[in-house]
Amino acid sequence: MSRWSEITAIVPTGAGGFLAKTRTQFMCLECGTSHERHMGRCPDCGTFNSLKEHRLSPQPSPPRTVLQNSPPVAVPIEQVDANEGDRIVTGLSEVDRVLGGGLVPGCGLLISGEPGIGKSTLLLQIAQTVSRQGKRFLYVTGEESAAQVRLRSDRIGTAGSELWLHSGCDLGSIEELIAQHQPMVVGIDSIQTICWDQIPAGAGGVTQVREVASRLLALARNVGFPILMVGHVTKDGTVAGPRTLEHMVDAVLQFEGERGHSLRILRALKNRFGSTEEVGIFEMCAEGLNEVDNPSGLLLSNRHGSSPGSATAAILEGTRPLLVEIQALVTPAAHGAPARKPSGIDAGRLSMLAAVLEKRLGIPLGDCDIHANVVGGVKLKGTAADLALAAAILSSFHDRSLPKDVIFAGEVGLLGEVRPVPGTRQRLEEASRLGFHSACVAPGSLDSSGPEGMRIHEIAELQMLAARFLQ
Ligand code: TYD
Ligand code: MG
Repeated sequence: MSRWSEITAIVPTGAGGFLAKTRTQFMCLECGTSHERHMGRCPDCGTFNSLKEHRLSPQPSPPRTVLQNSPPVAVPIEQVDANEGDRIVTGLSEVDRVLGGGLVPGCGLLISGEPGIGKSTLLLQIAQTVSRQGKRFLYVTGEESAAQVRLRSDRIGTAGSELWLHSGCDLGSIEELIAQHQPMVVGIDSIQTICWDQIPAGAGGVTQVREVASRLLALARNVGFPILMVGHVTKDGTVAGPRTLEHMVDAVLQFEGERGHSLRILRALKNRFGSTEEVGIFEMCAEGLNEVDNPSGLLLSNRHGSSPGSATAAILEGTRPLLVEIQALVTPAAHGAPARKPSGIDAGRLSMLAAVLEKRLGIPLGDCDIHANVVGGVKLKGTAADLALAAAILSSFHDRSLPKDVIFAGEVGLLGEVRPVPGTRQRLEEASRLGFHSACVAPGSLDSSGPEGMRIHEIAELQMLAARFLQ
């Protein structure tokens, strides 16, 4: 692996001059690594057909002013100043929670998410709350005009007088503005739109994004201001362009949600300064993003708990318990092979549970189509909602409703056994707070009795679930 602009040889031209020869390189558009020869699959990231040929004419390396400030030093570890500096509290408590207490001076942060999910809105709201504390925030937009940002800002809240806007895409201008205005925090929306004129490639390309980001991150680190960079992700969930961007920054905050649903979850995929267990929960409404204190209440507000095919799962988002309604619809297979259509649920998990129900309970799901959905646009991670999903499928198949005030928390194994999931007590306490009176969990999930007034049903295997509620 080598830098793609590497020069292989200097050859005399015969007229007293020299010519620097570059070799053809093949760069992976997915992960940004370059290779000597063309291959069908990138050996670094495994992506197929992602290598693209590049032949660059030699050019002098552009000056890296920010990196040349000080001579190289190495110091004994005990002499290193380990003080991370005073954190800059953004003022949005859900963001501060995910960051682990605010922005660390000099840190580089990537806010990633699909187009239209609300990244610009989030960045602008952070800019508003930071600037209202009298801290200067330089908001650089390469996607909108300053007037558009002003309009949006007026609509969603109040900016402080220290919120400075720049609409433009040129890295040199941004560096100048940073030197001129000396902001305490810088926001870039988005990193894919910013261009460095010293690089021949177009904006948004792998090389541009990587070089622009590395210069901005180096500047942030040297000067000591936190920088928040928005990055779009592609459909398969990776940050568009170089995946290497994720490795370069100190924290990656992924903004998730479903179009058409208002719930948004901010998740730390990487955090050098805090835990990756915390999530921030927001609701997108007409006046921007609202922080949500009671997400379960929001998600269950239109629950169809008394209809066949509905079950309530107690899941954990980071360390926070969340109650979600799981719906299943089991119908005779329309065309030959049975269809499995999950939304917010892993397709493999749905197929596995259907197979276990068929084999262990003798239910002919092989002849049925199954649609399964998590209400509210939440995406299930992990296996704690297995029991709820199995209950919803059984309930739809038998066309019998489950009791409305019961929640489920358990993992289902291939033998039909139900296994405990971590944090069961927390999950049940949240359910009890929201008025649920009984819970189905695996035996051994609780080391003492459950929350006061809550009936605990220990379900060792799926047969017991069917026998208790659906016969
Ligand atoms: P935006 O922040 O522009 O998304 P991104 O930067 O991730 O592409 O938000 C886009 C969507 O959010 C847009 O479709 C409309 C919606 N929205 C609201 O519903 N309310 C609001 O107050 C704002 C600002 C946006
Ligand atoms: Mg945007």
